[in-house]
Amino acid sequence: MDIFAYIKRDHRKVAGMMDDVMSIRLPAIRQNIFHKIRSELIAHSKAEEQTFYVAVEAAASESVRLQMAHSVDEHQDIADCLTVLDNTPISSEFWIEKFGELKQAVTHHVHEEENDVFPKARVLLTPAQARQLAADMDRLKQQFLEDMEFEIPAL
Ligand SMILES: [Fe+2]
Ligand SMILES: [Fe+2]
Repeated sequence: MDIFAYIKRDHRKVAGMMDDVMSIRLPAIRQNIFHKIRSELIAHSKAEEQTFYVAVEAAASESVRLQMAHSVDEHQDIADCLTVLDNTPISSEFWIEKFGELKQAVTHHVHEEENDVFPKARVLLTPAQARQLAADMDRLKQQFLEDMEFEIPAL
């Protein structure tokens, strides 16, 4: 698997989890899935920045580097949204509204990444690099997920 397939698989997984949250009414179960989504999004974004984005930026022109900086800003917006959700009662109207915003922000970011960043990155990275980056990103992501397990209160 190369980095493009790896990232896409992650994107589909989190999209499915976000759909699940909206259909679940029991607060404890919703909280549980939300924590999984939060961990997935944070681990994915951080690992992606430190492997895929670094490799693309190293090979890219100034305009592509600017686009990567924009993508990093979107990761930050998503992280900020997760913090607000974390500090809001999960059964409140505001939580639902804010979760809708998160979903929209993630969908927009994923669309840009796959449709604007990927075509440029495919030109810049060799197939061997793309395969190596998938392994690197996966290792780093698992590490971030393990680190976060200790921060999230068990339900
Ligand atoms: Fe991504
Ligand atoms: Fe991303």
